Amino acid sequence: MIGNWNSWSLNKHHHILLKLAVAILLLGFTFRLFVSDYKGFASDLESHMSEKDQAGERDVEPFVPGGIPENKDLLPIDVFTEKCDLFTGDWIPNPLGPTYTNESCPLIEGHQNCMRNGRPDSGYLYWKWTPRDCQLPGFNPERFLELMRNKAWALIGDSISRNHVQSLLCMLSTVERPVEVYHTEDNKSKRWHFPSYNLTVFNIWSPFLVKASIFEDINGVSSAEVQLHLDKLEKTWTDIYHSLDYMIISSGQWFLKAAIYHENDTIVGCHLCPGKNLTELGFEYAYNKSLHYVMDFIAKSKHKGLVFFRTSTPDHFENGEWHNGGTCPRTSPAREGEVKIKELSKILRDIELQEFVKAAPKAANNDVNLKLLDFTKLLLSRPDGHPGPYRQFRPFAVNKTAVVQNDCLHWCIPGPIDSWNDVIMDTVVNG
Ligand SMILES: *[C@@H]1O[C@H](CO)[C@@H](O)[C@H](O)[C@H]1NC(C)=O
Ligand SMILES: *[C@@H]1O[C@H](CO)[C@@H](O)[C@H](O)[C@H]1NC(C)=O
Ligand SMILES: *[C@@H]1O[C@H](CO)[C@@H](O)[C@H](O)[C@H]1NC(C)=O
Ligand SMILES: *[C@@H]1O[C@H](CO)[C@@H](O)[C@H](O)[C@H]1NC(C)=O
Ligand SMILES: *[C@@H]1O[C@H](CO)[C@@H](O)[C@H](O)[C@H]1NC(C)=O
Ligand SMILES: *[C@@H]1O[C@H](CO)[C@@H](O)[C@H](O)[C@H]1NC(C)=O
Ligand SMILES: *[C@@H]1O[C@H](CO)[C@@H](O)[C@H](O)[C@H]1NC(C)=O
Repeated sequence: MIGNWNSWSLNKHHHILLKLAVAILLLGFTFRLFVSDYKGFASDLESHMSEKDQAGERDVEPFVPGGIPENKDLLPIDVFTEKCDLFTGDWIPNPLGPTYTNESCPLIEGHQNCMRNGRPDSGYLYWKWTPRDCQLPGFNPERFLELMRNKAWALIGDSISRNHVQSLLCMLSTVERPVEVYHTEDNKSKRWHFPSYNLTVFNIWSPFLVKASIFEDINGVSSAEVQLHLDKLEKTWTDIYHSLDYMIISSGQWFLKAAIYHENDTIVGCHLCPGKNLTELGFEYAYNKSLHYVMDFIAKSKHKGLVFFRTSTPDHFENGEWHNGGTCPRTSPAREGEVKIKELSKILRDIELQEFVKAAPKAANNDVNLKLLDFTKLLLSRPDGHPGPYRQFRPFAVNKTAVVQNDCLHWCIPGPIDSWNDVIMDTVVNG
């Protein structure tokens, strides 16, 4: 399963002297001296963001992009480096626990607010992801905010991206509360601003990344198949793409749904559409095609920032799936190899890795800084990190044996997903 993709950008380089310098400078010098060691952003960041692109809402201040680093010449000199794979490691006990709680962070959505919802155990909060071959200092919100002065971030994808943005904002909230400055009518896309740092964070809802018409009500009940244009990217993210300095792009689970596939504005087939007299092409076909166009767009984009592509995340439904009573009752991490990746998750991930490996050299040729965030192994060993029945508020308050829908796909906030930010911080700082 793991091929030569890890020779692209998984293997980071550790700048030991840089770290030493950082440690010294942290004592007294301004944080602004440190900018990540990737190429500085050019001055051609264009404004592609127009109000109409934000789902028709016009009564909000327009986002004015164009952050240019003041200090791109302060790159660390390449001294001796040490290879490290941040995605292979272990969960070790962390008595300190999370840096925020349901009390200190007001941005946690109900379905992921396990503490408030009454999850009785808390052991799952006291673990830290530790790469096997190197130190991972952890997320430093002050330093992150300093580095991100006048920058724009976006987390683009499905509800796991929304799950992640809450974690990031909660960790940053320990320093400064972001102000929500925009949301779409359905609240699925939002934008926040950190006033003291002029950092903008977008969460862009685009579960397929390609153009999709979705016919679902608020409870996820669909009235018709998704109409999916495999060769057209969704404008919600491509329109702001060039105005962003950093982004994390992801997709996956939604491709498993029933859908009619279009290419070149012609129906070419479908997935799960009996009685329609269309060719069943399978979700693999659609995901492969769509990601190909996504990666191609990124690789050719001449983007001057940092583009992360994140693999999709594994679920941990046991004794059933989400729709037939699957649960995830564990309260501590699994031992390595104890939890096997499920077949569907593996298919999605293999396509993601395949497309990433194909795009990486093209991106490099065009000076596009495209990196992979492959959190699969990290998350696979955390079956204890999901809300389970505590996606609802106090599910057993009235009836101790009530049968409720479990969520073994999303992650409790706080929870294991907070570790993503440790890895992301390290990559942003050290390349
Ligand atoms: C946080 O969770 C605790 C424990 O369940 C609960 O007592 C408290 O009311 C929650 N606070 C908020 C603000 O949700
Ligand atoms: C805030 O950041 C944006 C880029 O994200 C930049 O265009 C704008 O000029 C900055 N505003 C100030 C007051 O520096
Ligand atoms: C969106 O969120 C606001 C508050 O944040 C809430 O008042 C509104 O009802 C929400 N809209 C939908 C469609 O959920
Ligand atoms: C796309 O469709 C148009 C007509 O609708 C056709 O002229 C064109 O050749 C098609 N392109 C491809 C690549 O199939
Ligand atoms: C199904 O589609 C094929 C090819 O488009 C067509 O020849 C056939 O008549 C269709 N069958 C029905 C029952 O519509
Ligand atoms: C994805 O498409 C490429 C051709 O573009 C093909 O070589 C590859 O086998 C496909 N992968 C899957 C999993 O369908
Ligand atoms: C509690 O829930 C179980 C399972 O749904 C049900 O069989 C039982 O009747 C409920 N008890 C009460 C008191 O509602």
